[in-house]
Amino acid sequence: MKFFVDTAEIEEIKEFSYMNLVDGVTTNPSLIAKSGNDIKDTIKKICTLISGPVSAEVTANDTNEMIEEGKILHGIAPNVVVKLPLTWAGLEACNKLSNLEIPTNVTLCFSAPQALLAAKAGATYISPFIGRLDDIGISGVDLIEEIRAIYDNYDDLNTLILAASIRNISHVTQVAMIGADVATIPPKILKELVKHPLTDIGLKNFLDDWASTGQKIK
Ligand code: G3P
Repeated sequence: MKFFVDTAEIEEIKEFSYMNLVDGVTTNPSLIAKSGNDIKDTIKKICTLISGPVSAEVTANDTNEMIEEGKILHGIAPNVVVKLPLTWAGLEACNKLSNLEIPTNVTLCFSAPQALLAAKAGATYISPFIGRLDDIGISGVDLIEEIRAIYDNYDDLNTLILAASIRNISHVTQVAMIGADVATIPPKILKELVKHPLTDIGLKNFLDDWASTGQKIK
């Protein structure tokens, strides 16, 4: 499973890029607004740090305007993936951009039929929002499972499942077990993945025992 980082903060991306931990980046209008920076500058900077897919979202409502915005965003760097909302206009724009071989990420997916439509429209990625489904008492992880089963039934559906709106470590484990192709993870959760109390206790015990030997490796 690929790890994308879900942020528009350059410093956070830098932190992960040096050890090749992150395969790509996803942004959305809220994350760009939170960063306080210009979308085109931000995407350009991210693309100098990350050679993998970098999602940048259109903000138009109309198909033709989405296509125009998508072309501008993809023109920033070849690894920019155009993110489009799961609406009829978004699906039409997705289909047209896909025909131009511009990669797409259809976002705000909350149901299996929506994911099926996005795949038929030629989306490169589908982004089911699992945390937001959990928020309303519906299992987001179950949705990933449904989409995986549907896509695996048909050889002609090649859309990659990008699990989004990940809120905790368990989400990461569960979507990996199901076989999501990508998890886009907020930086805070990405850092938490390394933590386990038994690792800390075990390391302390090892180092205490080691100190008692008086040995040194170098
Ligand atoms: O990139 C979209 C996304 O992951 C949203 O997450 O936490 O705002 O539901 P959240």
